[in-house]
Amino acid sequence: MEKQNTDFYNRKYSEGDFNYDPMVERSWLEKHIVNRFGLSLGDRVLDLGCGKGLHAALLSSFGLRVFGIEPSFQGVMGAIERGSKAIFIRDSASALEHYFDENEFDLIFCRGMSWYHRELDQLCPDTGIDVREATGDFFKYIKPGGLLVLQICTDFSGYNPNKDAYNNRLSSYLDLFQLHGEIVHVTNWAGTPLTSDEQAAKVKGGIVIATRKVNCSHPGQQFH
Ligand SMILES: C[S@@+](CC[C@H](N)C(=O)[O-])C[C@H]1O[C@@H](n2cnc3c(N)ncnc32)[C@H](O)[C@@H]1O
Repeated sequence: MEKQNTDFYNRKYSEGDFNYDPMVERSWLEKHIVNRFGLSLGDRVLDLGCGKGLHAALLSSFGLRVFGIEPSFQGVMGAIERGSKAIFIRDSASALEHYFDENEFDLIFCRGMSWYHRELDQLCPDTGIDVREATGDFFKYIKPGGLLVLQICTDFSGYNPNKDAYNNRLSSYLDLFQLHGEIVHVTNWAGTPLTSDEQAAKVKGGIVIATRKVNCSHPGQQFH
Protein backbone atom coordinates (compact mmCIF):
# COMPACT_ATOMS: atom_id res chain seq x y z
CA MET A 1 0.00 0.00 0.00
CA GLU A 2 1.47 3.34 -1.04
CA LYS A 3 2.38 5.82 1.72
CA GLN A 4 2.55 9.37 0.46
CA ASN A 5 4.09 12.44 1.99
CA THR A 6 4.15 15.52 -0.20
CA ASP A 7 5.23 17.97 2.55
CA PHE A 8 8.86 18.12 1.46
CA TYR A 9 8.12 18.89 -2.20
CA ASN A 10 5.21 21.19 -1.41
CA ARG A 11 7.60 23.25 0.69
CA LYS A 12 10.37 23.11 -1.89
CA TYR A 13 8.14 24.08 -4.82
CA SER A 14 6.38 26.84 -2.86
CA GLU A 15 9.83 28.39 -2.33
CA GLY A 16 11.15 27.82 -5.87
CA ASP A 17 12.45 24.87 -7.89
CA PHE A 18 15.70 23.04 -8.57
CA ASN A 19 18.31 25.39 -9.98
CA TYR A 20 17.65 24.96 -13.69
CA ASP A 21 18.74 27.00 -16.68
CA PRO A 22 15.86 26.37 -19.12
CA MET A 23 18.10 26.83 -22.18
CA VAL A 24 20.57 24.23 -20.90
CA GLU A 25 17.75 21.83 -20.05
CA ARG A 26 16.12 22.32 -23.46
CA SER A 27 19.37 21.61 -25.32
CA TRP A 28 19.97 18.53 -23.21
CA LEU A 29 16.47 17.20 -23.90
CA GLU A 30 16.81 17.90 -27.61
CA LYS A 31 20.10 16.03 -27.90
CA HIS A 32 19.70 13.25 -25.36
CA ILE A 33 15.98 12.49 -25.59
CA VAL A 34 14.22 13.91 -28.67
CA ASN A 35 16.97 13.29 -31.23
CA ARG A 36 18.60 10.27 -29.64
CA PHE A 37 15.34 8.33 -29.45
CA GLY A 38 13.90 9.72 -32.70
CA LEU A 39 10.75 11.27 -31.25
CA SER A 40 8.36 12.80 -33.80
CA LEU A 41 5.79 15.57 -33.78
CA GLY A 42 2.67 14.48 -31.91
CA ASP A 43 4.34 11.57 -30.09
CA ARG A 44 2.74 11.04 -26.69
CA VAL A 45 4.99 11.48 -23.68
CA LEU A 46 4.24 10.99 -19.98
CA ASP A 47 6.53 12.69 -17.46
CA LEU A 48 6.24 10.74 -14.19
CA GLY A 49 7.00 12.84 -11.12
CA CYS A 50 7.24 15.97 -13.23
CA GLY A 51 7.76 18.32 -10.29
CA LYS A 52 7.22 21.91 -11.33
CA GLY A 53 6.90 20.86 -14.95
CA LEU A 54 9.93 22.47 -16.59
CA HIS A 55 10.96 19.37 -18.54
CA ALA A 56 7.38 18.51 -19.51
CA ALA A 57 6.93 22.06 -20.78
CA LEU A 58 10.21 21.92 -22.70
CA LEU A 59 9.34 18.55 -24.25
CA SER A 60 6.00 19.98 -25.37
CA SER A 61 7.90 22.80 -27.09
CA PHE A 62 9.26 20.17 -29.51
CA GLY A 63 5.70 19.42 -30.66
CA LEU A 64 5.28 16.37 -28.45
CA ARG A 65 1.94 15.72 -26.72
CA VAL A 66 3.05 15.76 -23.11
CA PHE A 67 1.31 14.83 -19.88
CA GLY A 68 2.88 15.31 -16.45
CA ILE A 69 1.78 13.60 -13.26
CA GLU A 70 2.96 14.78 -9.88
CA PRO A 71 1.50 14.40 -6.36
CA SER A 72 2.72 17.74 -5.00
CA PHE A 73 0.01 20.39 -5.21
CA GLN A 74 2.63 23.15 -5.34
CA GLY A 75 4.47 21.30 -8.07
CA VAL A 76 1.41 20.95 -10.28
CA MET A 77 0.31 24.54 -9.66
CA GLY A 78 3.77 25.75 -10.66
CA ALA A 79 3.70 23.50 -13.74
CA ILE A 80 0.33 24.82 -14.89
CA GLU A 81 1.46 28.40 -14.33
CA ARG A 82 4.23 27.92 -16.90
CA GLY A 83 1.50 28.14 -19.52
CA SER A 84 2.86 25.38 -21.78
CA LYS A 85 0.80 22.97 -23.89
CA ALA A 86 1.58 20.10 -21.52
CA ILE A 87 -1.28 18.78 -19.41
CA PHE A 88 -0.66 18.27 -15.70
CA ILE A 89 -2.40 15.96 -13.25
CA ARG A 90 -2.02 16.03 -9.49
CA ASP A 91 -1.80 12.40 -8.47
CA SER A 92 0.60 9.57 -7.84
CA ALA A 93 2.32 7.52 -10.52
CA SER A 94 0.44 4.61 -8.97
CA ALA A 95 -2.86 6.03 -10.26
CA LEU A 96 -2.25 5.97 -14.03
CA GLU A 97 -5.22 3.68 -14.63
CA HIS A 98 -7.57 6.56 -13.74
CA TYR A 99 -6.27 8.78 -16.54
CA PHE A 100 -4.67 6.76 -19.30
CA ASP A 101 -5.24 3.81 -21.59
CA GLU A 102 -2.85 0.93 -21.90
CA ASN A 103 -0.41 1.20 -24.85
CA GLU A 104 -0.92 4.98 -24.95
CA PHE A 105 2.58 6.45 -24.76
CA ASP A 106 5.56 6.51 -27.08
CA LEU A 107 7.73 7.53 -24.14
CA ILE A 108 7.49 7.52 -20.38
CA PHE A 109 10.13 9.86 -19.00
CA CYS A 110 11.07 9.69 -15.32
CA ARG A 111 13.43 12.42 -14.29
CA GLY A 112 14.59 11.95 -10.72
CA MET A 113 11.26 10.41 -9.75
CA SER A 114 11.51 9.68 -6.02
CA TRP A 115 10.81 5.93 -6.16
CA TYR A 116 13.98 5.36 -8.20
CA HIS A 117 16.09 7.09 -5.56
CA ARG A 118 15.39 4.24 -3.15
CA GLU A 119 15.34 0.44 -2.89
CA LEU A 120 15.21 -1.03 -6.40
CA ASP A 121 15.08 -4.70 -5.43
CA GLN A 122 12.63 -4.84 -2.56
CA LEU A 123 9.67 -3.09 -1.04
CA CYS A 124 10.58 0.40 0.12
CA PRO A 125 9.54 0.75 3.77
CA ASP A 126 8.99 4.51 3.48
CA THR A 127 6.89 4.64 0.31
CA GLY A 128 5.33 1.17 0.57
CA ILE A 129 6.27 0.69 -3.10
CA ASP A 130 7.92 -2.30 -4.71
CA VAL A 131 9.49 -0.48 -7.61
CA ARG A 132 9.90 -3.71 -9.63
CA GLU A 133 6.13 -4.16 -9.66
CA ALA A 134 5.45 -0.46 -10.15
CA THR A 135 7.82 -0.34 -13.12
CA GLY A 136 6.04 -3.30 -14.67
CA ASP A 137 2.78 -1.38 -14.32
CA PHE A 138 4.28 1.66 -16.08
CA PHE A 139 5.12 -0.48 -19.10
CA LYS A 140 1.42 -1.27 -19.59
CA TYR A 141 0.92 2.34 -20.64
CA ILE A 142 3.73 2.29 -23.23
CA LYS A 143 3.06 1.29 -26.84
CA PRO A 144 4.86 -1.86 -28.00
CA GLY A 145 8.22 -0.57 -29.20
CA GLY A 146 7.93 2.53 -27.02
CA LEU A 147 10.40 3.51 -24.32
CA LEU A 148 10.73 4.16 -20.64
CA VAL A 149 13.65 6.51 -20.00
CA LEU A 150 14.89 7.06 -16.47
CA GLN A 151 17.26 9.96 -15.87
CA ILE A 152 18.44 10.10 -12.28
CA CYS A 153 21.33 11.23 -10.07
CA THR A 154 23.59 8.56 -8.62
CA ASP A 155 27.33 8.19 -8.13
CA PHE A 156 26.92 4.39 -8.51
CA SER A 157 28.72 3.77 -5.20
CA GLY A 158 25.91 1.79 -3.61
CA TYR A 159 26.23 4.22 -0.72
CA ASN A 160 22.88 5.30 0.70
CA PRO A 161 23.66 8.38 2.77
CA ASN A 162 20.12 9.16 3.78
CA LYS A 163 16.62 7.95 3.25
CA ASP A 164 15.88 10.19 0.32
CA ALA A 165 18.52 9.73 -2.33
CA TYR A 166 20.29 6.40 -2.70
CA ASN A 167 23.34 6.08 -4.90
CA ASN A 168 22.22 2.88 -6.57
CA ARG A 169 24.76 0.88 -8.55
CA LEU A 170 24.60 0.46 -12.32
CA SER A 171 23.83 -3.26 -11.88
CA SER A 172 20.81 -2.42 -9.69
CA TYR A 173 19.30 -0.35 -12.52
CA LEU A 174 20.14 -3.01 -15.09
CA ASP A 175 18.61 -5.75 -12.91
CA LEU A 176 15.44 -3.72 -12.53
CA PHE A 177 14.85 -2.73 -16.13
CA GLN A 178 15.85 -5.99 -17.77
CA LEU A 179 12.82 -7.51 -16.05
CA HIS A 180 10.57 -5.33 -18.16
CA GLY A 181 11.96 -5.01 -21.66
CA GLU A 182 15.05 -4.55 -23.78
CA ILE A 183 17.58 -2.09 -22.39
CA VAL A 184 18.64 -0.09 -25.44
CA HIS A 185 20.69 2.73 -23.93
CA VAL A 186 22.81 3.20 -20.79
CA THR A 187 24.97 6.30 -20.36
CA ASN A 188 25.64 8.93 -17.79
CA TRP A 189 23.98 12.35 -18.28
CA ALA A 190 26.90 13.55 -20.39
CA GLY A 191 26.47 10.61 -22.78
CA THR A 192 29.39 8.41 -21.66
CA PRO A 193 28.47 4.72 -22.03
CA LEU A 194 28.32 2.82 -18.73
CA THR A 195 29.71 -0.69 -18.85
CA SER A 196 30.22 -2.06 -15.33
CA ASP A 197 29.69 -1.08 -11.70
CA GLU A 198 33.39 -0.27 -11.34
CA GLN A 199 33.59 1.87 -14.51
CA ALA A 200 30.32 3.69 -13.67
CA ALA A 201 31.59 4.49 -10.16
CA LYS A 202 34.69 6.02 -11.79
CA VAL A 203 32.96 8.16 -14.41
CA LYS A 204 29.91 8.99 -12.23
CA GLY A 205 27.54 11.65 -13.55
CA GLY A 206 24.13 10.00 -13.07
CA ILE A 207 22.36 7.56 -15.34
CA VAL A 208 20.14 7.72 -18.41
CA ILE A 209 18.72 4.25 -18.99
CA ALA A 210 16.22 3.54 -21.76
CA THR A 211 14.19 0.35 -21.93
CA ARG A 212 12.11 -0.62 -24.95
CA LYS A 213 8.80 -2.38 -24.45
CA VAL A 214 8.95 -5.61 -26.38
CA ASN A 215 6.10 -7.74 -27.71
CA CYS A 216 6.91 -10.73 -25.60
CA SER A 217 5.25 -12.17 -22.52
CA HIS A 218 8.60 -12.90 -20.82
CA PRO A 219 10.93 -10.11 -21.94
CA GLY A 220 13.51 -10.92 -19.26
CA GLN A 221 14.27 -14.27 -20.95
CA GLN A 222 16.21 -12.64 -23.74
CA PHE A 223 18.95 -11.66 -21.26
CA HIS A 224 19.60 -15.13 -19.88
C1 LIG B 1 13.85 14.93 -7.44
S1 LIG B 1 12.21 15.48 -7.80
C2 LIG B 1 12.27 15.57 -9.58
C3 LIG B 1 11.20 16.48 -10.14
C4 LIG B 1 11.30 16.73 -11.65
N1 LIG B 1 11.13 15.52 -12.42
C5 LIG B 1 12.63 17.36 -11.99
O1 LIG B 1 13.46 16.69 -12.62
O2 LIG B 1 12.83 18.52 -11.62
C6 LIG B 1 11.26 14.01 -7.49
C7 LIG B 1 9.79 14.16 -7.82
O3 LIG B 1 9.14 12.88 -7.71
C8 LIG B 1 7.85 13.16 -7.22
N2 LIG B 1 7.17 11.98 -6.67
C9 LIG B 1 7.30 11.45 -5.43
N3 LIG B 1 6.42 10.45 -5.26
C10 LIG B 1 5.73 10.35 -6.41
C11 LIG B 1 4.67 9.53 -6.84
N4 LIG B 1 4.14 8.61 -6.04
N5 LIG B 1 4.17 9.71 -8.08
C12 LIG B 1 4.70 10.66 -8.91
N6 LIG B 1 5.69 11.46 -8.54
C13 LIG B 1 6.21 11.32 -7.31
C14 LIG B 1 8.10 14.23 -6.17
O4 LIG B 1 6.91 14.88 -5.74
C15 LIG B 1 9.08 15.12 -6.88
O5 LIG B 1 8.44 16.14 -7.60
